[in-house]
Amino acid sequence: MGERSHDFVIRGASIIDGSGAAAWTGDVAVRGDRIVAVGEVREPAARSVEASGLALSPGFIDVHSHDDFAVLFEPEMSAKLLQGVTTDVVGNCGLGAAPHREAAVTAAAFTPGRMLAPYEGYAGYLAAIDRDPPSLNVAALVGHGTIRAAAMENPALESSEVERGRMRALLEEGLEAGAVGLSTGLIYEPGRNAREDEIIFLARALAGAGALYTSHMRDESLGLVDSVRETIRVGETAGVAVQISHHKAAGRAAWGMVRESLRQIDEARARGVDVAADQYPYTSASTILAAVVQNRWIEGASAAGAGRALGGDEVVIASSAKHPEWDGRSLAEIGAGTHESPFETARRVLAEDPAVWAILHMMSEDDVREVMRHPTTLIGSDGLPTGGKPHPRLCGTFARVLGRYVRDEHVLGLEDAVHRMTGASALRFGLEGRGFVRPGFFADLVLFDPKRIADRATPSDPRCPPDGIANVFVNGVEVVRDGHHTHARPGRALRRGR
Ligand code: ZN
Ligand code: CU
Repeated sequence: MGERSHDFVIRGASIIDGSGAAAWTGDVAVRGDRIVAVGEVREPAARSVEASGLALSPGFIDVHSHDDFAVLFEPEMSAKLLQGVTTDVVGNCGLGAAPHREAAVTAAAFTPGRMLAPYEGYAGYLAAIDRDPPSLNVAALVGHGTIRAAAMENPALESSEVERGRMRALLEEGLEAGAVGLSTGLIYEPGRNAREDEIIFLARALAGAGALYTSHMRDESLGLVDSVRETIRVGETAGVAVQISHHKAAGRAAWGMVRESLRQIDEARARGVDVAADQYPYTSASTILAAVVQNRWIEGASAAGAGRALGGDEVVIASSAKHPEWDGRSLAEIGAGTHESPFETARRVLAEDPAVWAILHMMSEDDVREVMRHPTTLIGSDGLPTGGKPHPRLCGTFARVLGRYVRDEHVLGLEDAVHRMTGASALRFGLEGRGFVRPGFFADLVLFDPKRIADRATPSDPRCPPDGIANVFVNGVEVVRDGHHTHARPGRALRRGR
């Protein structure tokens, strides 16, 4: 084999390059960790992959993951690789990986009983990933809730100037280490106690670094439009790009409000604010039950407005480490035979296990489609890597968009959908050299069958991998072959600007 030969060539695939451009048939050659040629490749290769009838696209980028600790605990990350994800953005919803002491509390909520090995700051976290790499790449957001918990005497209060200074120092450590932005989770403790001016103060630190502000907003129900306005104000005032996380209208009374919230996004963009959103393709949500109770979203909670509260059959326990017999059962089922309201059942469940995760049936299919069609919406799973019966979005998101919403329902075109999982995502989150099938780009690639691709993760079998994903390559190394994990772990920590 001569010096100029390639490591492998994928031949005759329908190439979807990540830009949104129409697919064309061609070959892709890879040497080392890079794509070296796209088109007709004549040079010899150590290996040829016959791909006629298959689509070849950039590896999917999950812009909304909660895999901060999963990448350390379960580095093969099958939940993501088997659906074609080659890069995870972690640190969403205000939950970050540093400082270690506060992050360890979050890690314990996801994976009870596992010890998070010590590291120092984001520099230490990213170095830990490089030392013992997972199968996919990891980019990190700094979590506002986590740095707030570390910086404040009493995080239930508003912050003082000194405390804001401490938060800013923690944020700057993250940005210097290569974090791609800052996330907030304004329904969760302690992020929910932050006033808008605290967030603007911190967001200003992003401007210099060219980093992104992402937000799980204060209210995704009747207050949706006000929340979108607040998020846009943060970006506009601080001069940074903003990303609305898992955009939705939650609760029957709020259905249809996404038309107005999307209009707000269009208006802001028209006056030059760089705002966009992401979405998971399901009508059910998932979070910690503690937040659902604290925000009084369940029937029987006095402050829940009419038509807004979730019924006992609309709230399902996903995962309880202490009471696994609850996994997959609704509050109505758990409370059957008692005289409890669903809210009272939820409080009893929480009293026995404060770390319970829940699934909430609260969005409309029309709204899901409306948000998906919006030209700025990216795809992110918001997958929660817990035990028990996690929301199926963890393992199904990307295949569900390409199967159900592209092929079966024609909500998006194939190239457009891939763009929202690859090229557009890489540009938005500053992931250089990723997201496109082009010479010189990293060889993060997925080969899939557009006729077969389908999500198979369900509430009762949430970890079932999708159908139709053939091969997945990360940094030029094959991680999935014929639908099976090869156990290779070629992932890297991605650092902004490097
Ligand atoms: Zn969230
Ligand atoms: Cu999230």
